[in-house]
Amino acid sequence: MATIRKTIAPGEIERQREICARIRARVTADGARPLALVDTYGCQQNEADSEKLRGYLAEMGFGFTSDEFEADVIVVNTCAVREHAEMRVLGNVGALNHTKKARPTQIIAVCGCMVQQEHMAGKIKKSYPIVDLVFGPHELWRFPELLETVMERHRRVFAAEKDDGAVAEGIPLRRDGSVKAWLSIMYGCNNFCTYCIVPYVRGRERSRLPEDVLAEARALVAAGYKDITLLGQNVNSYGKDLGGGVDFADLIRMINDIPGEFLIRFMTSHPRDATEKLFRTMAECEKCARHLHLPVQSGSDRILKRMNRHYDRAKYLAEIETARRYMPDLVVTTDIIVGFPDESEEDFEDTLSLCEEVRFDAMFTFIYSKRVGTPAASMPDPYTREDKQRRFEKLTELANRISAEKHRAYEGKTLRVLVDGETGKEPYNLSSRTNGGRLVHLQGDPALIGSFAEVKITASNTWALYGKLQPAAGGG
Ligand code: 5AD
Ligand code: SF4
Repeated sequence: MATIRKTIAPGEIERQREICARIRARVTADGARPLALVDTYGCQQNEADSEKLRGYLAEMGFGFTSDEFEADVIVVNTCAVREHAEMRVLGNVGALNHTKKARPTQIIAVCGCMVQQEHMAGKIKKSYPIVDLVFGPHELWRFPELLETVMERHRRVFAAEKDDGAVAEGIPLRRDGSVKAWLSIMYGCNNFCTYCIVPYVRGRERSRLPEDVLAEARALVAAGYKDITLLGQNVNSYGKDLGGGVDFADLIRMINDIPGEFLIRFMTSHPRDATEKLFRTMAECEKCARHLHLPVQSGSDRILKRMNRHYDRAKYLAEIETARRYMPDLVVTTDIIVGFPDESEEDFEDTLSLCEEVRFDAMFTFIYSKRVGTPAASMPDPYTREDKQRRFEKLTELANRISAEKHRAYEGKTLRVLVDGETGKEPYNLSSRTNGGRLVHLQGDPALIGSFAEVKITASNTWALYGKLQPAAGGG
C-alpha cells in the first residue's frame, strides 16, 4: 500500500519565484551587483540541494563569489553524517565573525542536515549570533520567503520543524558543470540503520514521479550533459511509495531510451533491496555505467545485525557475484564503518576478509561517529579510539593495496573515457573518467572536455590511472 506522498503545490513554488523577483528588485536597485556564496558540505544530495539554492539566488539577481569578504549573502549547506563535518561547519561559521564585522549588512544562513537536529539549531541560536537564518532540508523550497523575512524585518529566522518531507517540483537549478549532472530521483530514507542520522533529518522516502525525472533527464541530454548521476539515499527503493509500477530498474531503462550519447550513473544502493532485475537491466542498458556503489558497512554478521542492515555477509557476497555474472567488467565500490559500538577484533577481521574476497575497486572508509538520537549512540562500547584508529589504518592499507593492484591491471589497455575537466597540472592537464568511474589523467586539448575519447593506459597508482589519447577511430 503506497503511503500518501506530500507534494508542494506548483503555485507555492510560483510564489517563491515571485519573491525572488521582489528580492531582485531590492538588491539590484541603483545598479548594484550583489554577490552570494554557497558553501557545501557532505554528500551529492547536498551538492544537488546547493544547485537549487544557487538557482534561487541567481533568480534573485545574485552573482557568485568564493570570497566570503565579498559576499552579500552566505549560505552554508551542512552535513550531519559524522561529527567531523559538523566541527568543520562550526569552525567555519565562527570564522565568519570577521567577514560580518567587515561587512555588517552581510546575511549569513546555515541550512541542511546539521541544523535539522534540534540541539544543533539551538547551539547556533545561542552561540552564533552572526547567523541570521537557519533552515532545515524540508524548508529549502521556501528559501526565498525565509530570506525575504530576514531582509525586511531585520530579525533572525529559524525554520527547522520536524517533518517527514515533501516533493517540490519546479525549483530553478543552477548546475555547477556542463558535463556531469546530478539528478535527484528521490529524497529521504526509511532504513534507520542504527548509526545513521539521515532518516531523522531528511525524512521518509519519497520518489519523484517518473515523468518528472524523465523530463529533467531529457533536458539534461538536450543541454549537452554526458554523465548523469541519479541520486537518492537508497535508489533501490525508488517508486515503492508511488505504487505506480515503475521501479528503479524500470526508471533506468526509460532514461536509457532517451536518444543521445551519455552515461547513466546512480547512488546509493542498499544491498537489502538490490535485485537481480537491477543487475540485468544495468547489463542490458548500454548507457548505464558499469559501476555499482554498494555500501557493505561491515563484513561481520553480528555487526550487520546490530546496524539493522537487513542482510548478512552471504547475501552481500551473493549479490556481488550475481552482478559480476551479468557484468564481468563491473567496477564495485563500497562504504565501510570501522569501530561500530562493540565491534570486536574478530568482527573487524571479518570485514578485512570480506574486502579481500570482493576486492573492491575503491572503498570509502569511516571511523564510527556517535550521532545524538540514533540507537547506536546508546550501545555500550568497550573499545578505545586508539583501537579504532589502528583498525582504520589497517583497513585503509588494504583498500589502497587492492585499488593499486586493480589499477595496475588497466595498464596497457585502451579504454573509452569521458573527458570532464582540467587538472591545472602539467603534463597531465585533463581529467577523465572510465565507464566504471575510474579517474584517468591525460594530456590533451581542453576543447576535448565534454567528449568521449579512446585512451591507452600507460601508468597508474592507488588513486588514478594515467593515459595517452588514441587517434579517434574512423577519423572525421
Ligand atoms: N559514523 C560513521 N560513518 C557513518 N556513515 C553514516 N553514518 C555514519 C556514522 N554515524 C557512513 C556510512 C554511509 C556513508 C555515507 O557514511 O558508511 O554509507
Ligand atoms: Fe543512513 Fe542506512 Fe539510510 Fe543510508 S540506508 S541514509 S546509511 S539509514
